[in-house]
Amino acid sequence: MKEIKLHDKIFTPYINKRQISLAIKKITQELESYADNKTLVFVSILKGAFMFASDLAKVYKKNAVFEFYRLKSYEGTQSTGEVKILVDINQQDIEGKDVVVLEDIVDTGNTLEKIFEELSKKKPKSLKIATLFYKPEAYKKNIPIDFIGMEIPNEFIVGYGLDYNELGRNLPEIYKLKDVKKQRMADIVLFGPPGAGKGTQAKILKDKLGLKYIATGDMFRHHIKNKTELGVKAQQYIDNGELVPDEITIGMIKESIGDPDSHGFIFDGFPRTVAQAEALDKIMGEKGYIIDALLSLEVPEEILVERLLNRGKTSGRSDDNEETIKKRLKQYHTKTAPVKEYYEKQGKLYQINGVGEIDEIHKRLYDIIKNLKLRE
Ligand code: IMP
Ligand code: MG
Repeated sequence: MKEIKLHDKIFTPYINKRQISLAIKKITQELESYADNKTLVFVSILKGAFMFASDLAKVYKKNAVFEFYRLKSYEGTQSTGEVKILVDINQQDIEGKDVVVLEDIVDTGNTLEKIFEELSKKKPKSLKIATLFYKPEAYKKNIPIDFIGMEIPNEFIVGYGLDYNELGRNLPEIYKLKDVKKQRMADIVLFGPPGAGKGTQAKILKDKLGLKYIATGDMFRHHIKNKTELGVKAQQYIDNGELVPDEITIGMIKESIGDPDSHGFIFDGFPRTVAQAEALDKIMGEKGYIIDALLSLEVPEEILVERLLNRGKTSGRSDDNEETIKKRLKQYHTKTAPVKEYYEKQGKLYQINGVGEIDEIHKRLYDIIKNLKLRE
């Protein structure tokens, strides 16, 4: 037995033929001893119980009468709560008789309640319920279930008469709906000119969503502080308000990504050039990953300059002074802004108003991330 697909859903093997036949044997014996000398009238509930009824009929050794009643309650995999009679039963067929309902499955009990109500009106001498499968966790009614083949957890199953939108009834074994995989985390780039608030927002998103935060700025500063070979090289470029060459940056990024086994990257300050964007696609692609979105924080230039000058007063960052700020903004427009177009062509560009309170801006970003349709 292996996985099967019915309509849009995947089902995995769950209860095999032997287990089903043991359940039928058990319930049949119980019914035979209950019957004693009575001739029972079995009312099978269509469509689902047809297989159960026919297999039971083959092993049930006493006299019995078979009737059929057809109801419909389910659409897809969710109980609609509404039950309709599609094929009724004649009153004289059950009036004054010992009736046993044969159900394939009892879930919420909505269907059963309706059956019980309707059949009771036809005045049977006794009315009992037998079901092959029963989901105790889902059952919400008080009608006693007298005979149970097998209890199962609250899973959606198909096969052996049971269907998913009419398919799967002819399967000789039971399959269950495969656990819907948890949606993976998004891999995103937080984008914008210097001073747009990328770092602030990325850190909030990282904490809230548990993303892995990869900030090239921090990476560089770490290397510079520790005077690594890369750090010394990068220092010169940063001091001049210039971009660190791609091969240095890409090497560092590769190192930071490592060999991840989970998604959820947030890149801050990278990619800064179209060449870097292409390199990132390549690095991610090699690991079977993909960038899901580029979130671009849009802030007018005069606000950027103001923010950066203010930051320069407290950050101690050598690049937060008027001269380099101008240079960095120019760099952004010539080399970095085209990155937006690169992602726009892939349908991944989201432009966000980056002016406002930190919380407001966060909410704008968060809403977009939450609603991203992630490719598997
Ligand atoms: P209830 O009214 O919620 O108890 O559902 C009873 C009816 O819903 C059954 O007779 C089935 O037709 C259908 N049903 C309930 N659970 C399942 C399931 O797991 N697979 C397929 N059909 C089900
Ligand atoms: Mg059904």
